[in-house]
Order: sequence, then C-alpha cells, then structure tokens
Amino acid sequence: VQVLADSRLQRENEPPLIKGWIPFLGKALEFRKDSLKFLLEQKRKHGDIFTVRMAGKDVTFVMDSSLYPYIIKHGRQLDFHKFSDKVSPATFGYQPVHSKLHPGLKEQIHRSFKLLQGDNLTPLTESMMGNLMLVFRHDHLGHSGWRSGCMYQFCLSVMFEATLLTLFGRPAAARRRTGTNALMDDFVKFDNKFPHLITEVPIWLLGGTRAVRQKLINYFLLKEVSESFTQINNTLSPLSAYHFAMLWAALGNTVPATFWAMYYLVSHPEALQVVRQEIQEVLSLSGVEFSSDTNVKLHREQLDKLRCLESAIKESLRLSSASLNVRMALEDFSLRLGESRSFAIRKGDAIAMYPRTTHLDPEIYEEPKKFRFDRYVHNGAEKTDFYKDDQKLKYYLIPFGSGVSMCPGRHFAINEIKQFLSLLLLYFDLQLEDGQSRAEFDPSRSGVGILPPSADVRFRYRLRVV
Ligand code: HEM
Repeated sequence: VQVLADSRLQRENEPPLIKGWIPFLGKALEFRKDSLKFLLEQKRKHGDIFTVRMAGKDVTFVMDSSLYPYIIKHGRQLDFHKFSDKVSPATFGYQPVHSKLHPGLKEQIHRSFKLLQGDNLTPLTESMMGNLMLVFRHDHLGHSGWRSGCMYQFCLSVMFEATLLTLFGRPAAARRRTGTNALMDDFVKFDNKFPHLITEVPIWLLGGTRAVRQKLINYFLLKEVSESFTQINNTLSPLSAYHFAMLWAALGNTVPATFWAMYYLVSHPEALQVVRQEIQEVLSLSGVEFSSDTNVKLHREQLDKLRCLESAIKESLRLSSASLNVRMALEDFSLRLGESRSFAIRKGDAIAMYPRTTHLDPEIYEEPKKFRFDRYVHNGAEKTDFYKDDQKLKYYLIPFGSGVSMCPGRHFAINEIKQFLSLLLLYFDLQLEDGQSRAEFDPSRSGVGILPPSADVRFRYRLRVV
C-alpha cells in the first residue's frame, strides 16, 4: 500500500503535490514543528490550494478563508462524518455512531448536542455557575494573604470538577473526590496521547494508554452517571465510551482556552481592570453589590452583556486556536472555487481548512501576534467587520469549526469561561510571579485544537478586600 501511495503523481488539474523526503512521513514532522510557518511557505510557493503528504495521508489544504464557503457548499462530496466515524471510535473506544449495531444511537447523540444549545443553554449555564462557585468556595476562598499557584493546573482542576458536576451530576463528582483526583490524572494521561490517537497511531503502541482509557470509560458505567446530562441509555457498556468522549469534548479545548484568557488578562493589567469594571457594572445594574462572602450569580442574559470580556476571550481563542477542520472526499470530483477556478479532487483524500492562518493574517488583523482585548468590540457592541483585499469576511474567527462539524458546545464554552473569569476577577487580586519568561504555545498539538502552553505559569492570588 505504501509503495502504491508513494507513486502518486500530480494529475492534470489537481492541486500541486508536496511529498517530502521520507515517503511515509512526508511533511508531517515539519507541520508539527511549526504548522503556520510550514503552510505559509507552501502557500508562497504553490498558491492557496495544495496537497501535502502527511503520515501516509494526502491532505489538500485550502488556505484562504474566503474560499471556505465553497468547501461547505460541496457537502455532498466532502463529508465530515466519514472522517469522524473513522477517527473518533478508534480514539475513544466506541462503535461508529452510524453503524447498524446501535440503531437510534446517532439520533440520541444529536439530541444530546441539542442539550447544549437554545433554551437548554439557560439551565445548563445556571448549573455551571453554581458548580464553579462551589469549587471556588471549597478550594480557593477562605484563605487570606497571597497564595501561589500554577495557572494551567488551577484552570484544569476548577473546570474539570465543575464540568463533571454540571454534565454528570453530584454522585459522579463526589466519587472523583474520594478517588483522590485519580479521574483527572487519568484524563490528563489520555489527553497527552490524544494527538497520536487522532492521527491513527494504534493504541497498543502508546504504552498504558489503552488501560487508562478503559478506566475512564468504566467510570461512566455507574448507574447514577447513566441518568446524567447526555441522557444516553447506558445499560450497554460500549455506550459509556460516548459519555467519556463527551467529557473529553467538553474539556479538551476548554481548559487551554480558559488558561489563555486568564493568562492574557493577568499579564495585561489595564485590560483586566476594564473587564473587572464591566463585570461589576453588570452586577450592580441588576441591583447586586458584590461582597466576598456572598455567592455570585451571573445569568445568561447578564453574561451576554459582558462585551469586553467576550472580546478578550475571543482574542485569546484567535491567538491559541490551531484546529484543523477536515472533510473526506467521497468521490472523484471537481472542487469549484469561484467562477473560473476548479480543482480535481480524488476519492479518499482529505480536505483541510486551517483557520490559524486566517487568525494570524496581518492583512486581517493588525499586529496579529499581539493580545488586544478589545479587538472584537466597537462602541459597546460586538465588532464583526473584518476585511481582506477590501472584501468583508464571513470567516474571520473560526475556533469552533465550520458548517456541519461546528462545535455544539460553543455557546456553553464562552459562557462558562466568562463565569470562571468573572469569579476570578471579582474575588482575587492576581499577579504573575516574577522571573518567568513569556508563555509560549506548545506546537506539538498543532491541528488538534486549542494549543496548551509549553510550560505552566506561576501566579499569585489574594482575596480582594471589597
Ligand atoms: C466539536 C472546538 C468546547 C462539545 C468541536 C470542533 C471544534 C471544537 C473545532 C469540531 C471538530 C472537528 O471539526 O473535527 C471547541 C472549543 C471549545 C469547545 C475551541 C472551547 C473553547 C466544547 C464544550 C463542549 C463541546 C464545552 C460540550 C460541553 C463538542 C462536541 C463536538 C465538538 C460534542 C463533536 C461534534 C460532532 O461530532 O458533530 N469543538 N469546543 N465543545 N465539541 Fe467543541
């Protein structure tokens, strides 16, 4: 198979083909080392569409986000589920959702996505508020004087526990506490191997990962968990793997996204001050005077008013997001990109959109590597007009994917990060510890989602005197 694959040559009307020196690996290592640099270099040499051989697969990159609508329009030929059905079961250890083994499962899963959206978002957001407050009170309030912490670890432990409580209920979280955070440790071990699993490295090559994954799946066999948020009938053991997949989806990107939003605010005190003031104003508009011994509640409508905070979170997502949006070609076809351009695409090839190149494009965003908390707000309203070549862009910020594969948890994610940061800013004075270099992105997860930092950051926090 490898020999056949290596003999691929660019055919007439196909995008330029880039293969690399090592036949099977192709350009995978260069992509992982610095995805942005690699792709921009190829774009300079070959134009805005090209095919790259990576880890034995041929991936056609479409670089310009003004071309994304054409990909989304070709939904009949370019399918997302074919891709996710291939990759997700092997990663999380379940049967393909579209298989005949579990009739009705696909519908059940789609119903569980709906529980994250629309009217359901209101009770979900309220529940998350209560649970975040609970974790803050239990672990972080009630101490006076400065305390030191590691920022990523702080975000992970608060978000992990509050998410578990919100999606899977109190018994689930209580069990975790008695298990001395074993579930969270296993989650981290699994997550570290996640980039290998989704690139289809067999799990038996990844040390003890299979056993760790099984422990995580078994956790969701509990009866009380089966009556939880996802409402998937859990009497069949393979289905507990879906709960586990939902837990990963709910945390895998949210934790690093929360970290970056916190890090950028703490390292930009002037932005932090504006955002803190906005939160206090929204609270006092509803007649609530904040004091450190009362519990804070921010409802969905109040969260919607936090425009500067929302802009700061979106700005952090712009800087840290590195997910690939992938589609699989179901047949040989001609991909039309506008009136006069089209390219031949082969059945089985992957088509990838990599929004990071848009997010860091200096023609769209001035000084793209700088954190500007108010980039997405204008005169108190959300700013949505961003341009390239005088053309107003529809796709200028795409951390949650596009079209059919768009993240169903996106509104919940923004709300919970807003709630977390509101509590943090209301209750604490915050500082970075001295003598640390600036946090950098860990490039090894390029293509996977929100990049984590390459090392944790030490910070100090102290209850504010209000
Ligand atoms: C899918 C991003 C938070 C649930 C996705 C995808 C992206 C994404 C890019 C599409 C993956 C693909 O195209 O292959 C994010 C980011 C988040 C976040 C950046 C946080 C900042 C959440 C949360 C939940 C969630 C909090 C649930 C509580 C899901 C689910 C899918 C998904 C279930 C799979 C959808 C499908 O298979 O059709 N997310 N997500 N996400 N996300 Fe999120």
